[in-house]
Amino acid sequence: MRRLLIAGNWKMNTDLREAIQLATALKRQLAEAEDVDLAVFPPAPFLADVCEVLQDTAIEVGGQNLYHEPKGAFTGEVSAAMLVSVGCKRVLVGHSERRQYFGETDASCNQKLRAAIAAGLRPILCVGEVLEERKAGRQEEVVKTQVLGGLEGFSVEDMGAVTVAYEPVWAIGTGETATPEQANSMHGFIRGLLAERFGVDVAQTTRILYGGSMKPENSKALASEPDIDGGLIGGASLVAEKFAAIAKG
Ligand code: PGA
Repeated sequence: MRRLLIAGNWKMNTDLREAIQLATALKRQLAEAEDVDLAVFPPAPFLADVCEVLQDTAIEVGGQNLYHEPKGAFTGEVSAAMLVSVGCKRVLVGHSERRQYFGETDASCNQKLRAAIAAGLRPILCVGEVLEERKAGRQEEVVKTQVLGGLEGFSVEDMGAVTVAYEPVWAIGTGETATPEQANSMHGFIRGLLAERFGVDVAQTTRILYGGSMKPENSKALASEPDIDGGLIGGASLVAEKFAAIAKG
């Protein structure tokens, strides 16, 4: 009952020309991919151009980050309304690189998620443990804090806009992937948290994506696990053929 969502996080890659080329290639290669939902997250300066290339396609565009204030003296920041005004439908919140390098916390993620939803964006909340935490067997505790902290104070209605992405930090950009069983077990755990906090309906309808070195060679096995509802793909999303292969299953 949950459709797969395949999302490409381009991170701080491409220049304008390359972004347009990549979007144009995806438009061509994914014109007939009707069984999955699709989204790309280009760098902020290229959002408007990529939105233009992908308008009238099923590929949605989103920002990689936002600031929770609506406008004002916040040099360098981008608001939810700005993302909406160039055609974005989605936004990433709390990616591990934002948490690691830019000091994002569960509390700031919560503010960002609220601002995104209020503006009509559908955010993807990213969570995941680092290697030391997994080695210490603390992964569920860490992810629980991130999920419940990020979604603190949310209503069932708010949750209609939210997707969660489980991205074990030790698997991001490392070539190391969680096994389908490892990932599915954490996804089941997250779904259980959602059920406790928001009820079974929200738990059953909320998509939980996997991220971390997902590529055509491993995406099928991951996405066929019952609690994995798609992927958030970094490196492989920069190559149109690879992203399209993942999306086509
Ligand atoms: P990766 O990145 O696919 O390059 O591991 C995933 C992500 O950070 O979203």
